[in-house]
Amino acid sequence: AQHKTSVFINADQGKHIINKNIYGHFAEHLGRCIYGGFYVGENNEKIPNTAGVRNDVIEALKELKVPVLRWPGGCFADTYHWMDGIGPKDERPTIVNQWWGGVTEDNSFGTHDFLNMCEMLGAEPYLAGNVGSGAVHELADWVQYVNHNGTSPMADLRRENGRKEPWGVKYWGVGNEMWGCGGHMTPEYYANVFRQYSTFMTDWSNSSSLFRIASGANVGDYHWTEVLMRDVPKNLVEGVALHSYSFVEWNEKGSATAFNEAQYFSTMETALKMEELVTRHSTIMDKYDPEKRIALVVDEWGGWYNVEEGTNPGFLYQQNTMRDAMIAGTTLNIFNNHADRVRMANLAQTINVLQAVILTNESEMILTPTYHVMKMYNVHQDATLLPLEVMGGSTYEMNGKKLPAISASASKNKAGVIHASLVNIHASESKEIEIVLRGTENSKVSGTILKSAKLQDFNSFENPDKIKTEDFKGFKRKGDKITVTLPPFSVVVLKIEK
Ligand code: AHR
Repeated sequence: AQHKTSVFINADQGKHIINKNIYGHFAEHLGRCIYGGFYVGENNEKIPNTAGVRNDVIEALKELKVPVLRWPGGCFADTYHWMDGIGPKDERPTIVNQWWGGVTEDNSFGTHDFLNMCEMLGAEPYLAGNVGSGAVHELADWVQYVNHNGTSPMADLRRENGRKEPWGVKYWGVGNEMWGCGGHMTPEYYANVFRQYSTFMTDWSNSSSLFRIASGANVGDYHWTEVLMRDVPKNLVEGVALHSYSFVEWNEKGSATAFNEAQYFSTMETALKMEELVTRHSTIMDKYDPEKRIALVVDEWGGWYNVEEGTNPGFLYQQNTMRDAMIAGTTLNIFNNHADRVRMANLAQTINVLQAVILTNESEMILTPTYHVMKMYNVHQDATLLPLEVMGGSTYEMNGKKLPAISASASKNKAGVIHASLVNIHASESKEIEIVLRGTENSKVSGTILKSAKLQDFNSFENPDKIKTEDFKGFKRKGDKITVTLPPFSVVVLKIEK
């Protein structure tokens, strides 16, 4: 029997800030993410742009409040030589993207382009260094190039290339997936490599304000996290990464849009696994770092399906449905609720790749359901997490398996406004939730909802606004209780203000 779900929120109990960087994104030189997605070239007369970056994309990402953007990979990062992407564009060497489609690119989007674009977006850059096929001095030089204010070989070169002030890049990845495309290393070996690279990374201002992120575990590889936490001295590392994607089955991912309910259920099973993953990786980190100084950085997450028919399999271009909205809503609630340790996450990937927030087709651009969820949830950025308890949670069941149907998180911002984000992943049943919000009897309640008629619905270039947010009226207020009816596969954000 299904029981009513109660969510108890104590509005006065918040201790941890939800780091806005949990709402971060990831942009790799992969398919049409950078070229065609972000960047169309300075001389493009058909697509309005600023320094080659699409104006429609800049506007949409500013609205989203992207806090941090990871670049240039991914697997690509460990083959990327940053010096090939600076200086006059017509003199830059080419690079063959060995990971993604074997295409040759001209390095026209490089360090200046990316960092200036981050400034336009108001996002912090997160640079992933080449450890797999690079050199210690190459990464140390990159840091000096972008961060040194004084006279030095790299700072002088930066000025020669037209940028006087350093950008002051704080976030640095020391390699990517070092257990795989980053060099197939063992954790023991990589821990030593990390120590070496990290030692020579300095912000060049004696203030040690760099945030160095160690390439982390693949999903449930807890041994990887254990070894890094054990073997890397705490003064050399600020973050440890984790990658986990959601899919039906890794070897049989299925279509992004033509999926059945069983495939949806399996996808949500892998998505909700994130709760166990961050809990168990955090527990290992607690053992070595009880003060929680080192962040868990989930710098790749999202849904991964087969590419759209007729597109290059190496470009990972997929559509985005209400299933993806469910992945985004539940995953972000998990990250919020673990805000004490999870202090950055990067959805893979921003434009035209995997669980994208934006899709482009020449001069056209559309926003996906995932975009709308990320925008609804941006109210949590830098707000105080309000711990909550979900009681008598109703379930979503299939073939003898059970998933929790309801996911929730809540926060209070600096102005005292409370937001609660609620997801019902059930494919066919509405769910009634009773929210008990102690101490908020006389406040004003409003809400926003993302829903659609079918789980498989998506926004297309022909019908770009099929799925969009609406005002939510499906709640009743009585004293300190709000009874909410969540339609099947919907996301709601409630606003509770004085
Ligand atoms: O996001 C696509 C790829 O997935 C990344 O390049 C890699 O890090 C991961 O395996």
